[in-house]
Amino acid sequence: MIKKFYPSSLYNFLRFIQSNPVNKRILDCGAGGPNPKLAFFYENGFETYGIDISENEIKDADDYCKNHDIKLNIIKGDMRNIPFDSNFFGYVFSYLSMIHLSKNATAQAINEIYRVLMKGGLCCLNFLSKDDKWFDENEETKPGEIISKHGSKEEIHSYYDDDEPDGFFHNFDILYKEKRHILKGNYFNTGRTCILDYIIKK
Ligand SMILES: C[S@@+](CC[C@H](N)C(=O)[O-])C[C@H]1O[C@@H](n2cnc3c(N)ncnc32)[C@H](O)[C@@H]1O
Repeated sequence: MIKKFYPSSLYNFLRFIQSNPVNKRILDCGAGGPNPKLAFFYENGFETYGIDISENEIKDADDYCKNHDIKLNIIKGDMRNIPFDSNFFGYVFSYLSMIHLSKNATAQAINEIYRVLMKGGLCCLNFLSKDDKWFDENEETKPGEIISKHGSKEEIHSYYDDDEPDGFFHNFDILYKEKRHILKGNYFNTGRTCILDYIIKK
């Protein structure tokens, strides 16, 4: 079997987790789709949980699980109102999913992540930089917020200045922050060229 590789942000998060062991329970917010990133943590011995707002994306992830004979525990849920008890998780991440929330909704989701994360737990998040090549695609409806149309469906994307997401993390310690600026090609076949990665601790 060909070994599967994952986006470098996830390997980096695992490196931080290894030097910050709490429990082995991890949550992915926006976990659906045909290539669920939770599989990486499953392969590394974690007890995995995921939520996604879209039934279609959950079905795609379920198909992946069936084809690979693994169980990731992805259920329907909104990261603005996470359906788990407080302090339940040692680790939480959201890989290119929070980018679909408005800035107000992002603040709400990050407060929810704070609630479900145990003290000392870690979280890995990424945001779109205003230097991403698609930032100018459409007009901003609010500063840094762009609505694009896909057929009849409208989708929001939020873009940030370099230090802007720091403002979400008053309750956390910021352990790591990276601006990943791709000069040729794009980030892991996402089409994205500039991403802000964070690792934060409760
Ligand atoms: C670009 S996809 C990324 C999916 C996955 N993280 C990956 O890397 O393949 C964004 C995902 O976020 C989900 N999503 C959007 N808003 C959400 C919300 N408020 N709560 C939970 N999931 C959400 C979408 O349904 C979609 O599956």
